[in-house]
Amino acid sequence: MNKYDSEMIRTLLLKENFREVSNIEEANFVFLNTCAVRKNAEKRVLGRLDSLKGLKKEKPEISISVLGCVAKYNKELINHPVVDFVAPPDSYRSLVNAIKTKKKELVPEKYCEQYSDIFTSAFKTSVYLSITRGCNHFCSYCIVPYLRTQLRSRPADDILKEAEKLVAEGANEITLLGQNVNAYYYKGLLFPDILKKVSEIKGLKLLSFLTSHPADLPENLFYVMAKFPIISRYLHLPLQSGSDKVLRKMMRRYTREDYLKIIERARDLMPDVTITTDIIVGFPGETEEDFRQTLKTVKSARFDQAYMFAYSKREGTLASLFPTQVKDSIKKDRLQRLIKIQNEITKSKAEELLGKELSVLTIENGKNGQKVGKTKNGRIIMLPGVAKIGFEYIINIYKINGWVPVGKIKKEADK
Ligand code: 5AD
Ligand code: SF4
Repeated sequence: MNKYDSEMIRTLLLKENFREVSNIEEANFVFLNTCAVRKNAEKRVLGRLDSLKGLKKEKPEISISVLGCVAKYNKELINHPVVDFVAPPDSYRSLVNAIKTKKKELVPEKYCEQYSDIFTSAFKTSVYLSITRGCNHFCSYCIVPYLRTQLRSRPADDILKEAEKLVAEGANEITLLGQNVNAYYYKGLLFPDILKKVSEIKGLKLLSFLTSHPADLPENLFYVMAKFPIISRYLHLPLQSGSDKVLRKMMRRYTREDYLKIIERARDLMPDVTITTDIIVGFPGETEEDFRQTLKTVKSARFDQAYMFAYSKREGTLASLFPTQVKDSIKKDRLQRLIKIQNEITKSKAEELLGKELSVLTIENGKNGQKVGKTKNGRIIMLPGVAKIGFEYIINIYKINGWVPVGKIKKEADK
């Protein structure tokens, strides 16, 4: 979401005749977009600000703005010696004016800002498009609803306009975004309706979406995913915990069994669906037995990949008030144990692809002169450097590098 917001802010700035420079020494205005979801992300912002002290000393007229969730979470940043502007997520329109006229400001937010009329440009061939902002869930560990406030769905016409513009400018893959993307609702249209509408845009090659909440999946979503080949058969569905007790305390609104049933249904309808997840270990009150339930769930779910985190206490959330916080050493230990088990699953899932022939869209440059490709079910495949970005190829998976499958090109997909 921050990547999309950064593109949106870039669009706002370019409209006002700001010009982008390729290195920070040439800049008169610097913007840091930030994430407050875990303490570590927040710490990194402070580290980055400290590293800007030298630049600010050399060039005192440089204007430095802190954007995003940390700007709302920690308004004290306005007193930081290098910071000129603190701009929370709903304040970017005012920020663009403030930096032209003011010296230092905590930029005021617009209530329930949607930025619906701002259409980003396709700076890459694989782009994001935000269709909802905010979240109504209030999972007890999560700071997001306090910082990005309530869920609002963007008008369908604006989504389509932006998607058409992106494709006309060369985008091949669009990823529809929302903290809880499948809760989209606008004037009778639900998320699968938007997926269908965007999928009809001529020239678009792959349509993905992030992030889905298990309690808000519309009845027909998996049918729509299975039916339209352009829609990526990729589901990022955070589990968070495998213990029903912890899930209840997290206020996730589903049980372990509900979750497993959902992914079973997804796999029934889409045998090649890729499922990834987020998991938190060491949530307040999580016992060894609760944690084992998570391990058990991970083993039976067999996720293609998982993003795993130690619980991080966020002031202002309900869970920060729970008295039974888990010790850091236990959190670390559980995280390592979980990562070890998931890594084996991730590896064996990748190995299942060995020898397979797949259709892959080249999305960007990768390391060591390679290209990065994406399959119709959202799997990342490394491709040889000759693969052209934006082109689709039929490839053969001939080895696994770490956990990443590597493909050999057989031919261009439509030749
Ligand atoms: N501590 C650790 N992880 C968190 N997440 C959200 N809040 C916290 C927190 N306080 C994780 C969740 C979410 C992902 C984006 O970040 O797993 O799905
Ligand atoms: Fe946070 Fe996601 Fe829960 Fe919303 S659904 S409160 S963004 S974890």
